[in-house]
Amino acid sequence: MIDATTPPRKLKGAHPFLLAPSVLSADPLAIGTSIDNLEGEADWIHVDIMDGHFVPNLTYGPALVKALRRRYPDAFLDVHIMAERADDFLDMFVESGASLLSVHVEATHHIHKVLQTIRNRGIRPGITLNPGTPVQTIEPILNMVDLVLVMSVNPGFAAQKFIPEVLAKVKELVRYRTANGLDFLVEIDGGVDANNAKMLVTSGCDVLVAGNAIFGSENPAEMARKIKNAVSTQPQTFAQREL
Ligand code: DX5
Ligand code: ZN
Repeated sequence: MIDATTPPRKLKGAHPFLLAPSVLSADPLAIGTSIDNLEGEADWIHVDIMDGHFVPNLTYGPALVKALRRRYPDAFLDVHIMAERADDFLDMFVESGASLLSVHVEATHHIHKVLQTIRNRGIRPGITLNPGTPVQTIEPILNMVDLVLVMSVNPGFAAQKFIPEVLAKVKELVRYRTANGLDFLVEIDGGVDANNAKMLVTSGCDVLVAGNAIFGSENPAEMARKIKNAVSTQPQTFAQREL
């Protein structure tokens, strides 16, 4: 059974990576239908919470997470909070039914306390890095998190261009994890598609978020399968994986 105490690496099971479609690119009037149209190809569901302050865009609040939990009781709801002072409204999200809550280190005043609170409330804590934020910023709390979300675009909007420089941080995180015996997952978010998926997994990403690539395509389920196939068609890349 998967719950907040399951070791993070176990969340991946036998698969080389997890695919987390972002509903930001789904039709807001038909989010449920868009998820159903994935025909079970989503490993996680990624939900982007934006506050119009930390990022120049507004999306949803805990009500959407609650509704998703009601409709998909067994889904892994990966909630990415892009908001200033997540400290102030954490309770709402803790009670929403999220499986994992990631907060931005750049936007959270008391990061240690927030991560501690999330964990104590039985939810998995994640930490997010903007493209310009170095890994060193989060080293003191890496032993507290189940996931590090590496932003590969500046947060706020879907369908932006992938920033390749952030891959150095993915590799650095993988090296740090091995050297320190930790087991957090590394997630990448922004500009992911079937063309770069294999390279991302080879570089060490455990979870790929994809919004526009999946929900912007004519057949989202087929695109999800295409991304998975793009990764698995060359299994030798895993053996070569740089740790
Ligand atoms: C951007 C969000 C992403 C977004 C990714 O701020 O955090 O999750 O949905 O969209 P794509 O995959 O279209 O870049
Ligand atoms: Zn996101």
